Amino acid sequence: MIEFLVNHTPVEIDDVAPNTSALDWLRTKSGLTGSKEGCASGDCGACTVIVGASTGDGVRYQSMNACLLMLGNLHGKHLITVDALSDMSATTVEQLHPVQRAMVECHGSQCGFCTPGFIMSMFGLYLNYREYPGRATVIEQLGGNLCRCTGYRPILEACQHMYEFPRVADPFTEAADQFFQRPLNPEPCLTHNGQQFFLPQSLPDLLALKDQYPQAKLLAGGTDLALEFTQQLRDYDTLISVIEVAELQHIRDDETGLTLGAAATYADLVPTLCARYPEAKEMFHRLGSAQIRNAGTLGGSLGNASPIGDPAPLLMALDAQLILANAHGERSVPVGEFFLAYRKTVLADNEVIVAVRIPPRPPSLTLACYKISKRMEDDISAVLLAIAFEQVDGVMRNVKTGFGGMAATPAAAQDLETFLDGKPFTEAVMEQAGDVLVHAFNPMTDVRASRDYRLTTCRNLLQRFWLEQSEQTITRVSHAAL
Ligand SMILES: Cc1cc2nc3c(=O)[nH]c(=O)nc-3n(C[C@H](O)[C@H](O)[C@H](O)COP(=O)(O)OP(=O)(O)OC[C@H]3O[C@@H](n4cnc5c(N)ncnc54)[C@H](O)[C@@H]3O)c2cc1C
Ligand code: FES
Ligand code: FES
Repeated sequence: MIEFLVNHTPVEIDDVAPNTSALDWLRTKSGLTGSKEGCASGDCGACTVIVGASTGDGVRYQSMNACLLMLGNLHGKHLITVDALSDMSATTVEQLHPVQRAMVECHGSQCGFCTPGFIMSMFGLYLNYREYPGRATVIEQLGGNLCRCTGYRPILEACQHMYEFPRVADPFTEAADQFFQRPLNPEPCLTHNGQQFFLPQSLPDLLALKDQYPQAKLLAGGTDLALEFTQQLRDYDTLISVIEVAELQHIRDDETGLTLGAAATYADLVPTLCARYPEAKEMFHRLGSAQIRNAGTLGGSLGNASPIGDPAPLLMALDAQLILANAHGERSVPVGEFFLAYRKTVLADNEVIVAVRIPPRPPSLTLACYKISKRMEDDISAVLLAIAFEQVDGVMRNVKTGFGGMAATPAAAQDLETFLDGKPFTEAVMEQAGDVLVHAFNPMTDVRASRDYRLTTCRNLLQRFWLEQSEQTITRVSHAAL
């Protein structure tokens, strides 16, 4: 049985198909049909809900895509939907929640299909910021919500206008306080027609389950896996969620380097990672949307083994190791050796990714990470280049690279690394490096980019790297300036 709070009402569920999304459950079982299904793939934001999780001394509320959120992952959480923001009997605009009232008064809605999702992203802002946080933060938080008829200006205005009304008390506090104090089922699971969903709370329990059910599919945030359910209509008899495993949540920065638990979300790990590697900030800022970063994990990205996953090339350039474990022990694998072929990895059936370890940052490290995609927000990379080296006695040493979108797996350009090693970092060397790089890969042409575009872009990115590092020119447009 799983237990969670929906708006003001606690619910207990035990018999539901493991691949049921929160959106399906809301719309078909609970009667709460305010959240809309636009794309069922995390792209439109029409299904946005707020999920609250206990932090020990409070509750943290984050926006998520209900179409990607597996119902079982809601155990112990507070799900807030658009249906409950204001009293259904409201008859005047003044009786609406300030978020809704601002949207009406700023004319932020026309066909209205996107509106419930925008309202919930705005409600997330309202809960997390007591004052207008500024345009850049608003754009960041609304980057996962698409509107195809109103245009974004009135919606952005509404995000400011909602702070001009007297602040209303959070209508869910009392129900949440009561819910988060009650003891929960310590062995949450779902069963349905022989199918099972497990939500182990500790690493030994997770590993024991994976040993017992080696064919079970692991689930973390669901931002990749849910697409198999909604787009390919796939089914798994057994799902094991790693999202509650305490040992997989660790985020540590000490003298041994950085340890990032496989089930820590981007929202949780990016502040620590980017405090040490600010060069990666823009890439993570542009990974998916706020909803995706609130749910998606590093373990999920690596486990998915997509050739266009953004974190893997960066982790390769940082010489990271993956900690893999099964019930019988642990092993460590360099990220570059984890990927075998298209969506194939060295992970055995009974293994899980436990953590990513990044060695301490060398004092003379030069690092850059470039993501090229068609849109700034919420778009998959056509090409990603990460490069790092140390300056030793005027030459480059320990050159490490990682590329996304250039091969069937995230890959290093070993010829480029060998070429650069021991050479001075000069314009002439980086020009020649471009020649080496275009022969290192034979990328495919697909909907995101042609082969030639990918090769030319990579070469240009090396030149950009040189221009930025030699401080000849500014090549980036800052988000805040947009
Ligand atoms: C709209 C949208 C935009 C996106 N944008 C980007 C983007 O810009 N850049 C990018 O890189 N990605 C993007 N993604 C992809 C996705 O969000 C990331 O890959 C994310 O990190 C997946 O993590 P998750 O926790 O949701 O994984 P899940 O979907 O839960 O799992 C993904 C896979 O990993 C496996 N897995 C999960 N945890 C483990 C573990 N601990 N050990 C072993 N295997 C495991 C699962 O079995 C599954 O096969 C996007 C996705 C969507 C839907
Ligand atoms: S329905 Fe489009 S993001 Fe969920
Ligand atoms: S109001 Fe029609 S899609 Fe936004």
